[in-house]
Amino acid sequence: MQKISRQSFLQLNAAALASTVLNNYLPAFKKETGVDSIRVGVIGCGKVSQYYIPHLLKTEKVEVVSLCDIIESKAASAAKEYGIEHHYGHIDDMLGGTGFDLLVNLTDMQEHGHLNLKAINAKRHVWSEKPVANSFREGRDLLDLALTNKVKLWSAPVVVNSPQFSFISKFIQEGKLGKISAAHAHYGHRGPNWSAFFYEKGGGSLPDLGVYSLSTLTGLLGPVRSVVAMTSIVTKERKTENKGVIKVEAEDNAMVLMEHRDGILSHVQSSFNYFDPHSYRSSDHLLPTVSIWGTEAKVNLVGYDWDPIGIDIVTVDNRKTERFMTDSKDYTWEQGASLVGESLQSGNEPVVNIEHALHVLEIIEAVHQSQAQGIRVPLTSGFPYPLV
Ligand SMILES: NC(=O)c1ccc[n+]([C@@H]2O[C@H](COP(=O)([O-])OP(=O)(O)OC[C@H]3O[C@@H](n4cnc5c(N)ncnc54)[C@H](O)[C@@H]3O)[C@@H](O)[C@H]2O)c1
Repeated sequence: MQKISRQSFLQLNAAALASTVLNNYLPAFKKETGVDSIRVGVIGCGKVSQYYIPHLLKTEKVEVVSLCDIIESKAASAAKEYGIEHHYGHIDDMLGGTGFDLLVNLTDMQEHGHLNLKAINAKRHVWSEKPVANSFREGRDLLDLALTNKVKLWSAPVVVNSPQFSFISKFIQEGKLGKISAAHAHYGHRGPNWSAFFYEKGGGSLPDLGVYSLSTLTGLLGPVRSVVAMTSIVTKERKTENKGVIKVEAEDNAMVLMEHRDGILSHVQSSFNYFDPHSYRSSDHLLPTVSIWGTEAKVNLVGYDWDPIGIDIVTVDNRKTERFMTDSKDYTWEQGASLVGESLQSGNEPVVNIEHALHVLEIIEAVHQSQAQGIRVPLTSGFPYPLV
């Protein structure tokens, strides 16, 4: 295994300490509330809710008690479709309405920070779609408040929960890749057309798509020390279902170079301009989207990291590619909220980790700074590494 420098060691241990403090809340929560099932309120009844809600509904001891959408008719029709008793048109009414323990935030990216803040202020646990906040500072403040209020905060994506992620992580920790020097990950398609927020300020291909690649590579290789990046807007106007033709304000094309420990360099690219015949599914996607090069082996994750279909490995001793981990077991990308609902029940901390999510948010912020100023940007945050 590669050695970790003293600076990284201190950074990682500070993060691990905060995580230990959080761990202690879980059994206490169960003892204090005495509840046998976690009551969930879902805010944002758009596209992604159509995956989350059915998954939550089939999760044991997790009960969806209310739905909310700023377009109240969307909350009403989802409540009818799924047989959920309460629905609201504003978060204040939801928080003041029927009681719940966990807010699942599936709203526009730009709305996450202030809605998560309201929920944490009201002492609710939060699972947020990515990003957890609009800036690293705002996200860090949310976590500090969650610690003070003794509630939990987690954020998508949940790629680190796949069995394929664990397999590669252990392969690395056992030193089977040898000395690692480089890694690459990519994700892109031609961009969503249903909502304008993806292209407005605070949106972009990195927080929507590149975030998966960033989470995978940092989760596997460790915290990033510095970032150099370029972004651009390739498609200047978009036609969206909710706002018609709009001017694109956020990057829709990104190239990111990251420096990890021990000289490891990695690269992520994301875009809303890639033709991808597989688009939103991996099943017939036989090409790798994540590659890691070591002196003893090369590892490719086949399919998307959020929907992996296998791992191809070649080593110095076996030069014929072998495929491993073709069974994803019960992993799915939309399981995050169900997973943390179960975690609040059992007291078992999930692999997905808020400090990791905040580190990825700091990387995205560094990308914007690097692009704006033409500089290499150092990072300050860390997270408990390895995650598995
Ligand atoms: N669609 C996908 O396939 C997908 C997959 C993974 C993650 N995500 C993430 O999920 C989030 C939502 O994406 P989506 O595709 O479902 O978008 P969407 O536009 O379909 O849904 C968002 C919903 O949130 C509601 N909303 C916005 N502001 C609100 C507020 N202040 N209070 C209450 N409701 C509010 C909107 O009215 C809308 O119904 C984004 O963060 C996105 O990155 C989407």
